[in-house]
Amino acid sequence: NMSHDEMMNMENGHASHTNPLPLNDSTGDNELALPPLLEPKHGVVDITAQQGKTEIFEGVETETYGYNGSFLGPVIRVNEGQTVTFRTKNNLAEPTTFHWHGVEISGEGDGGPHQILQPGASHDVKFTVNQGASTLWFHPHPEGATAEQVYKGLAGLIYVEDENSKKLGLPSKYGENDFPLVFQDRVFTEEKQFDYQAVRNEDGTIGDTLLVNGTFNPKLTIGKEKVRLRLLNGSNARNYTFKLNTGDKFQQVATDGGFLNKPITMSEITLTPGERAEIIVDFSKYDADHNIALVNEENTILLPFHIDDQKTSSIEISDSLNDFAVTDEERNLPVTKKLELFGMGPMVSINGKQFDMNRIDFTQKQGETEIWEIYNKPDMMGGMIHPFHIHGTQFKIVSIDGKEPPANLQGWKDTVSIEPSQTVKLAVKFNNKGIYMFHCHVLEHEENGMMGQIEVK
Ligand code: C2O
Ligand code: CU
Repeated sequence: NMSHDEMMNMENGHASHTNPLPLNDSTGDNELALPPLLEPKHGVVDITAQQGKTEIFEGVETETYGYNGSFLGPVIRVNEGQTVTFRTKNNLAEPTTFHWHGVEISGEGDGGPHQILQPGASHDVKFTVNQGASTLWFHPHPEGATAEQVYKGLAGLIYVEDENSKKLGLPSKYGENDFPLVFQDRVFTEEKQFDYQAVRNEDGTIGDTLLVNGTFNPKLTIGKEKVRLRLLNGSNARNYTFKLNTGDKFQQVATDGGFLNKPITMSEITLTPGERAEIIVDFSKYDADHNIALVNEENTILLPFHIDDQKTSSIEISDSLNDFAVTDEERNLPVTKKLELFGMGPMVSINGKQFDMNRIDFTQKQGETEIWEIYNKPDMMGGMIHPFHIHGTQFKIVSIDGKEPPANLQGWKDTVSIEPSQTVKLAVKFNNKGIYMFHCHVLEHEENGMMGQIEVK
């Protein structure tokens, strides 16, 4: 006999394409929080995981986790070519790791489940930034506690800048016309606390309350100008389809790992957990009292904008941003790694196996491109979208069901959304050595074993 909770879980889990728990509209009462910008000093960035209390709701203190603060983390900004040391410290009362999602870094520095930091421990991660301009992120990855630690607030962003990004002239004034937006849904207890274990869902924990950069009921005040929004789906499991309530279009300029070759005009964009996109919204045509908001597919208001018409600028968005390509050679390579994603809840697997810290599932040579074919095998209930992520690399999507990917996915990616029955081919190359994870970024799936390890030699 199933308990009520288990039945709820079943229902939640099997609503495969839509989100079972609708989000509430943002009333726009609170100005969006802007994470502090953190740049290396003498090549060093200090990052401490800690616990604290945060006033998410007026007059109430919620127990939270954060990096260098009580909730969420800073935006760490680094430059391509720069050698930096991330000086990490665990001030939590439990073990954690520091994983740099999307960063091309050695397996040792990657911060997967092998690189545990005990409470009180510190560890220096030194590396040279060896990838182009992009919006990456970081979060913990300890086996069995990733989902809960992220849920409590451990997540931050990493901006990589390069010569190209500095020359392009895109909106790039942090907090003025260039904003990070971290979308996370949560369930709060009546006392306005997180009780992750109570609401945990084996197929992905979905919340009814949206936080953007940790702000409840956010609004964002922007100028009458073109604004760059760097969207991160930092949720454990919820998918978002972002659009403007006006029906107006916007331009996507970047994927997970860098700029698209040219801006792509979009009317909506879907991001599954772990994915990022940079978009440019042109607010210059709206008046101060214009009702404009970022909404999701059900037209729930995610982020209303308030336009300050005293602030204007005119920026031309270049139509040549990057030189990304899937080469003919890559297109003609044979498939050398096959992965089958299957199952639900505690039964999720890759190639019929669940994660084992002591098993290496694949090997690959450093610097060599291989084609990975990933198939999301449906089950009797239809199955779920699995956002498939590989550590330590930015890959190219060669095809989705044999077809060229849509224009806005023709760019560097580290997480790809795979629908039930879909087969995706990726050109994957690791520039560094070591052991890396690959997994579903529904954090409860990752935790339930939908993860494997590759050793790059
Ligand atoms: Cu965001 Cu294992 O990753
Ligand atoms: Cu999954």
